[in-house]
Amino acid sequence: MKKYLENALETEILGKNIIYYDEVSSTNIVAKDLMRKGVAQGTIIIANYQTEGKGRQGKNWVETKGEGIAFSIILYPNYNIEKISILTLITGIVVCQSLREITGYPLKIKWPNDIILNGKKICGILTEAINIEDGYGVVVGIGINVNNVQFAQETPYASSLYLECLRRFNRADIISVILKKLETSYKIYQTHKNFVNFIDIYEELCLNIGEAIYIKQNGAKVKAYVLGVTKDGNLSVQYDKGHVGEISSGEVSIRGIYGYS
Ligand code: BTN
Repeated sequence: MKKYLENALETEILGKNIIYYDEVSSTNIVAKDLMRKGVAQGTIIIANYQTEGKGRQGKNWVETKGEGIAFSIILYPNYNIEKISILTLITGIVVCQSLREITGYPLKIKWPNDIILNGKKICGILTEAINIEDGYGVVVGIGINVNNVQFAQETPYASSLYLECLRRFNRADIISVILKKLETSYKIYQTHKNFVNFIDIYEELCLNIGEAIYIKQNGAKVKAYVLGVTKDGNLSVQYDKGHVGEISSGEVSIRGIYGYS
C-alpha cells in the first residue's frame, strides 16, 4: 500500500511523508504524538487496522482489518484555533467530491461531515487540535468504509462503498485523490482564512439543507428546519416556533426526522 500510494500521489505537501502501520491504536493518537515532536506538515499516518479508532463525540470508530481506510493528515494552519471546525467541513466537501468522482454515485454530506450514500454512513471525519511549542497543530482523521461487509452493532446505519456500489475499490487510489483535492482546498483556506468560498458547494452537497431535523443536545431533542450554513460553518436553522438560530458542530448532533440522515 505505501509504495503504491507514493507512486500514485500527485501532491506537493500532503503525503510527502507517509507513515504506515499494519496495526495501531489510532492514527489520530499517533499523529498528535508526532506533532508534539515537530513532524513536518503534510505527514500522513495510515493504518491497515486500528484497535482504538476514535469517532466524534467520544464514540469509537470500529472497522474490519484491511477493508477500510483509516488515515490522519498533519497540518499547521496559520490562523486562530476557532476556525478549525471549518477545516473539518472543507475536508467533508473534499472527501464527498472524491468519492463521487471515483464511484460515480451521488454521495452527500450529513452536517457537519458524515459522508452518506443511500441514507447510510460511509465515512466519518475527526479533526483534533493540540497546542505545540509555537502555536498549534491540527490532525484531520478520515475513516472510510471501502470494501467492508461487517459493521459494529451500534452503527446500524453504516455501510460501505462495496455494499452500495457493488464493486471493490483500491484504497490507495482513494487516498491519493482525496489528498490532491485537499491540498488545493487547504491552500484556498490558508489564503482566505474563512468558509465563504466553500459555502455554495457545501450547501449543494449537504443533504440536510431545506429539510427538517432533530437537534440533539444534552439528552434533549428539538425539531428545526435547516436554512443553510453560515460563513463560520454553523448550521442556520429555523425552529418550529419561527425563530432563527445557529448551531455549531461541537455542541450538538442532528438526525433527519425520518431516520439517521
Ligand atoms: C466519526 O464519524 O465519528 C469520525 C470517525 C473518524 C475515524 C477516523 S479513522 C482515522 C482517524 N483515526 C481515528 O482514531 N479516528 C479517525
